[in-house]
Amino acid sequence: MKVAVIGTGYVGLTTAVSLAMGGHQVIGIDLVDSKIAQLRQGRSPIYEPGLEEALVSMLGQGMLDFTTKIADAQEADVLFVCVGTPEAADGTANLSYLEAAVSDVQSLQRVAPRSRVVVIKSTVPVGTGDRIASELRESSDLHIASNPEFLREGSALQDALQPSRIVIGTADETAASVLEKLYEGVSAPRIATTRANAELIKYASNAFLATRISFMNELARLSEALGTDITTVARGMGLDSRIGPEFLRAGVGYGGSCFPKDTIALLQLAQQHGVSLSILDKAREVNATQPIWFLQQLHKRLPDLAGKQIAVLGLAFKPDTDDIREAPSLKILEALQKAGAKVAAYDPIASPAVRAIFPQVQYADSPAQACQGAHAALLVTEWKECVELDWKSIKASMESPLLFDGRNAWPSTQLREAGFFYTGVGKS
Ligand code: UDX
Repeated sequence: MKVAVIGTGYVGLTTAVSLAMGGHQVIGIDLVDSKIAQLRQGRSPIYEPGLEEALVSMLGQGMLDFTTKIADAQEADVLFVCVGTPEAADGTANLSYLEAAVSDVQSLQRVAPRSRVVVIKSTVPVGTGDRIASELRESSDLHIASNPEFLREGSALQDALQPSRIVIGTADETAASVLEKLYEGVSAPRIATTRANAELIKYASNAFLATRISFMNELARLSEALGTDITTVARGMGLDSRIGPEFLRAGVGYGGSCFPKDTIALLQLAQQHGVSLSILDKAREVNATQPIWFLQQLHKRLPDLAGKQIAVLGLAFKPDTDDIREAPSLKILEALQKAGAKVAAYDPIASPAVRAIFPQVQYADSPAQACQGAHAALLVTEWKECVELDWKSIKASMESPLLFDGRNAWPSTQLREAGFFYTGVGKS
């Protein structure tokens, strides 16, 4: 099929590349000239494992192209809307990029009218797809569906190629059958439903996962007080098939582009309808305080951080991405600086982005360098290179052997045996 993808951010670019890999002829559209120029040269603006290689391969095979002009999508049968819906000042989803994409679709219909399916992949408040469908009703040739995306940064391409489920939200038979055909080669359970249900599935999934993490983080605080081990507790919980093992990892809190913005957008949506989502509200509160709770563990050992050197390992909001949006590391760096600590940070790829916000922090070339002379080392993001360390030489180079494991990823028993003072999250 001939497909256009409007918006080439995380979702749009991954969608474009994965559809091209699925044998469709794809054109990606974005307003930003420099981004399109970069993409046409086979360079990905985001770091995502395997994405750039796949991009180069699809460009080479002539399955994928990029443009800044919607008019170049004249031949497309399916238009994917993958623009960002960032958090507005009041916490609601800012739909201005979406509105711009809808007017692009209208202008395309004017210059090259034909039957097209418009697929909304952007995360949008419940009711948006129906509203757009009625706005576009003037053209009976347009068929609107909501088809939310569940990909995770760091494994985005893999998730797009092998999704956990495909949700097709539409009552429009043409849209439903075109999407079925488009995803023919993808083996995943299908949910055929209304646009509104599809939209809520996306928000509810993210809100539930965020709540699960906050539940475990709050339980980790209790676990710390009780002297129990939250990682063993989580393992024991996860073996219950009704609970499952995923997303039970206590840590320094969730970050990223989705959970923070989607949880507040859902709360706002609920409020607009006179409903209070109090559990979700609390989950956000726990998340906001979790990095600070983590630092309190450090303060217990080092009450005065003024002049102390602290190593911070990992800055991206999760491993395998250079994304620092809402990363817990930002709150941690801010608090450490406020307390007068000298910070040496390391991240395999996210340091340049963090340097722009915290220029006073020293950025090391390796975890070992960050730990040199440190009074304490903090694990904030569980990158492999921040977890698998030469502990003997690290211990020899630190001023004092204090380790604070914000991801419960370091080998606690081995480290204690080696003479480190080790503190995890809810893990004594
Ligand atoms: C999330 C959803 O998983 C994905 O389905 C949706 O499409 C977009 O939002 P993403 O934000 O890329 O994906 O990453 P995810 O792996 O979900 O992690 C989000 C945050 O939660 C990270 O900061 C991660 O470190 C944290 N996390 C995750 C925990 O603290 N504990 C866990 O057990 C799992």
